[in-house]
Amino acid sequence: MVSEKWVSAILLLQLCSAGCGFCGKVLVWPCDMSHWLNLKVTLEELTERGHEVTVLVPPQNFIIDFKKPSELNFEVIPMSQDTETAINTLNAFLDLTVNIMPSLSAWQSAKKLQDFLFQVTGDYKLLCEGVVYNQSLMKKLRESNYNVMIIDPVTPCGELIAELLEVPFMYTLRLFMGNTMEKYCGKLPSPPSYVPVAMAGLTDRMTFPERIKNVMFSIFFDFWLQQHDTRFWDQFYSEALGRPTTLCETMGKAEIWLIRTYWDFEFPRPYLPNFEFVGGLHCKPAKPLPKEMEEFVQSSGEDGIVIFSLGSMVKNLTEEKANLIASALAQIPQKVLWRYKGKEPATLGANTRLYDWIPQNDLLGHPKARAFITHGGTNGIYEAIYHGVPMVGVPMFADQPDNIAHMKAKGAAVEVNINTMTSADLLSALTTVINEPSYKENAMRLSRIHHDQPVKPLDRAVFWIEFVMRHKGAKHLRPAAHNLTWYQYHSLDVIGFLLACVATAIFLVTKCCLFSYRQFVKTGKKKKRE
Ligand SMILES: *[C@@H]1O[C@H](CO)[C@@H](O)[C@H](O)[C@H]1NC(C)=O
Ligand SMILES: *[C@@H]1O[C@H](CO)[C@@H](O)[C@H](O)[C@H]1NC(C)=O
Ligand SMILES: *[C@@H]1O[C@H](CO)[C@@H](O)[C@H](O)[C@H]1NC(C)=O
Repeated sequence: MVSEKWVSAILLLQLCSAGCGFCGKVLVWPCDMSHWLNLKVTLEELTERGHEVTVLVPPQNFIIDFKKPSELNFEVIPMSQDTETAINTLNAFLDLTVNIMPSLSAWQSAKKLQDFLFQVTGDYKLLCEGVVYNQSLMKKLRESNYNVMIIDPVTPCGELIAELLEVPFMYTLRLFMGNTMEKYCGKLPSPPSYVPVAMAGLTDRMTFPERIKNVMFSIFFDFWLQQHDTRFWDQFYSEALGRPTTLCETMGKAEIWLIRTYWDFEFPRPYLPNFEFVGGLHCKPAKPLPKEMEEFVQSSGEDGIVIFSLGSMVKNLTEEKANLIASALAQIPQKVLWRYKGKEPATLGANTRLYDWIPQNDLLGHPKARAFITHGGTNGIYEAIYHGVPMVGVPMFADQPDNIAHMKAKGAAVEVNINTMTSADLLSALTTVINEPSYKENAMRLSRIHHDQPVKPLDRAVFWIEFVMRHKGAKHLRPAAHNLTWYQYHSLDVIGFLLACVATAIFLVTKCCLFSYRQFVKTGKKKKRE
């Protein structure tokens, strides 16, 4: 009797501690906006498993709310700079992407984006100095003895802090600057013949002109990486670390790269053992809707509902555009839930309701969901894949055109150009996606692929974070490519050497031939004379 009790007590103890075989301390260098929404899910899972998570944040944020009570600890970076700058920067960015870039060609908008990034570099530098040159803050961080640092590389400086603190670090990202960071700093092989460069909106099956475009984009991003942003950071990092180094070299020290996509979304491509694809880790089954919303959804009957959101950044459009969209929406039999902040469009139909915020995941998971009109952010696309909802994509900037190109190639989405579209375009895209069964079938196929994984993406992400904490890194997964120069990597030195050998051999052989031929001719002449 007694021993049985003991056994169950021990079992219970083991169960309780199972969540945390090793409780560690995690330091986080995040990026605001939609990136944070994704990262937060991982961090909350970590705290649930008993780890202690501290997030380094600037004093001014858009979505990261460090004042709200939370399981996460926040360390606010002391900055003397006026916090208004951050708001102005975001507004300038929105204006650029929503109002200016769409009217430009891909090349021009890439150039504009580059100029903009160059501008914000100054702000990032202040933020970085606020940490690495504040002795008391650095001392505090060092004394905390963190086991791992999780970094979103869109905001520079994270890897520098990790290096200074001598903490192993890992990245979480979708793709960055046309894949250049993964390609050059992570050494991810990306043959341009079938791996499309980010932001070119291409797929893995490219025609000859498209392959030219892909290579040109690739060269452009390489140049960008070499010339602009990094030169500044190379110097900054070298000064802070007290030895000559580059941004890329420092980034290459990352133990693991957690990529926010998976093979339901991504085209098959080569990857390395220290890259883990954990797309859709934030997705959850749908929860019941608020009562008023559920009634509206139910009132749609057999026709079902359409969910419309342009993401967390863009809340209102120009009046003209909003009217155009509203009049298209008014012509479909479905009920529409539109996340929209701004003046109510005059052409709004009786079937459309505007909301400041919608429980997007719960709506997409509702049995009545028929289509999702999206700007093409990775978070939203993954929720649609998770629940198997076909999409109408109205991409605007950053990785959005690419994301929609992926979904289009997989037959789960129709793309509409938000700048040139008419009401009829949007209407026809919507009716196609809703009425042609192939779109729903393809969305369901992606959903089945997504759900059929041996280990869920969130569990895989957490596993690798804990792995890095347990083993103080993941050096066994690090490719030796990091120690090679670019000509060694492409074996150009070997090819050059072999070519030189062949050339020497050919030279010697011809010389010999010529020599013996001359000898032959000479002896021939001698014989004749005799
Ligand atoms: C350095 O950080 C500490 C908090 O750790 C803060 O109190 C102090 O004001 C900071 N110093 C400067 C110069 O910003
Ligand atoms: C959105 O609304 C704000 C005011 O509410 C306005 O200042 C801004 O220009 C609008 N944005 C667009 C793209 O129309
Ligand atoms: C590769 O480079 C790293 C530092 O960048 C160094 O620690 C390591 O020893 C090098 N490995 C080889 C095999 O040269």
